[in-house]
Amino acid sequence: MTPLKITPLHPALGAEVAGVDLAAPIDAPTREALSHALADHLALVFREQSLTPAQYLAAASVFGPPMEQHYSQHNMPDFPLIGLIWHRNGQQPAEQWHTDHTNRERPPAATILYGVEIPSAGGGTSVASMRAAYVALAEDERRRLDGLTTFNSLESGRTDTRETDQEKYGKPIQHPMVRTHPVHGSRAVYFHITKATHIDGMTPEASRVYMNDLLDRMIRPEIVYRHVWRKGDVLVIDNRATMHRAHGDYDRRESRVLWRIIVEGDRPRLV
Ligand SMILES: [Fe+2]
Repeated sequence: MTPLKITPLHPALGAEVAGVDLAAPIDAPTREALSHALADHLALVFREQSLTPAQYLAAASVFGPPMEQHYSQHNMPDFPLIGLIWHRNGQQPAEQWHTDHTNRERPPAATILYGVEIPSAGGGTSVASMRAAYVALAEDERRRLDGLTTFNSLESGRTDTRETDQEKYGKPIQHPMVRTHPVHGSRAVYFHITKATHIDGMTPEASRVYMNDLLDRMIRPEIVYRHVWRKGDVLVIDNRATMHRAHGDYDRRESRVLWRIIVEGDRPRLV
């Protein structure tokens, strides 16, 4: 087994992993160790990687089977399981706190980002521990959230969604607002404010107000790791117990290109 060196990056979450070349095959014990490291630290950073699309897909599969991404217009033509995050093809940075693809029955266990072109300043990615957020809520609110579920779909306000994506991924999917991590066993708050059409039993308006209020109260610096990108970084985000957001605070004359892979996880459940 490759000796892993794991160094925490923030008191609440995030760790740098040294000793792994993601371009090379990864043996079974190392895969197991990385899966547990992700469940423990919720965001893993691998520095100075140099990957072809095929190598990147092979490395990502350590965390689960790569799955199709909606908004397929942004996928790499020859490698459609890799999405391109790039403002020059018309995308806006996802600056709202969220977890990915909650409109899927089995949403991604992890989102993996590879820094291919990095602006000279800004353009970071922040990750918040929803495990810590859950623990910090008052007991009565935890009990309330434990009983709530959301219905999720593709965002209706977008004009660039392909019809095929809308048909495949636009059906309502119900998820608990608190989920148990399948590896770690702990609970975390789980919702996507713009993919959730509503909370079961609440109007869309009241649902949005409550989710916004929750985000305002939950997201504090103590539970946020802000990743400052270097070219060659691979950032693995555990979607089962975090939310993340992009920072659009960079010069648009510079290029910022991240390759994104999402890997399939379990159906969220509260046990
Ligand atoms: Fe995202």
